[in-house]
Amino acid sequence: MKILAFNGSPRRGKWNTATMLENALEGARSAGAETELINLYKLDFKGCSSCFACKRKDRKETGVCVLRDDLQPVLEQVREADGLLLGTPVYYGAETSTMRAFMERLQFPYLNYENYAESHFPRKIPTGLIYTMNVNKELAESMGYPAVFERARNYLAMHFGSCELLEANYTTQYDDYAKYEANAPGEDKAAYRAAHFEDDCRKAYELGVRLASGIPADK
Ligand SMILES: Cc1cc2nc3c(=O)[nH]c(=O)nc-3n(C[C@H](O)[C@H](O)[C@H](O)COP(=O)(O)O)c2cc1C
Repeated sequence: MKILAFNGSPRRGKWNTATMLENALEGARSAGAETELINLYKLDFKGCSSCFACKRKDRKETGVCVLRDDLQPVLEQVREADGLLLGTPVYYGAETSTMRAFMERLQFPYLNYENYAESHFPRKIPTGLIYTMNVNKELAESMGYPAVFERARNYLAMHFGSCELLEANYTTQYDDYAKYEANAPGEDKAAYRAAHFEDDCRKAYELGVRLASGIPADK
């Protein structure tokens, strides 16, 4: 049982997305899974090049991207994985560009152009999608974020079988708010983090347990 997680933030270690992913992987390990966290920003790759090699009728393999870059061995690992977890900060109302490029390369080879309902991914595996963001829940809703998250969730479910969403709001952006421009006072952010982030991380842990147990999301 192998769970692969992908960090779509340029920030690693203690930062928001990485922390949520680490908690989820801890949950997965507690349920007996082997885990690996892949930092996408460390890899040299681009999004889909629209070569359509993965859609050719005379292709040698199905579900394989022909681009040769740092993502090639990672996509080979995906073929063997038992669960996938994608984590990304929200940049301009959506995934980071690097996560977006990864999502194209991860999914397009498995998109069956003749029958969207029949994914070329050979098995059904549970997946998870974590977003961390600066805005609070109310602002996220008024800015239409849920539709963006749901669309991405839906594509992952379509390709791999199921996908569960998890969000963390009003995240800490700086170590020292006094040193940076900010749209919220540092004390507010710190108080919100103290009240909520532990709970967000607990939800991530539980998501990891479900992924490792092979439990598909309801949605
Ligand atoms: C370029 C950039 C764009 C961002 N755009 C948004 C945004 O549209 N909405 C939002 O809520 N937060 C936005 N943020 C804040 C991040 O989503 C938030 O701080 C996130 O939790 C950072 O995750 P990390 O700590 O894992 O890097 C943006 C941050 C950056 C650097």
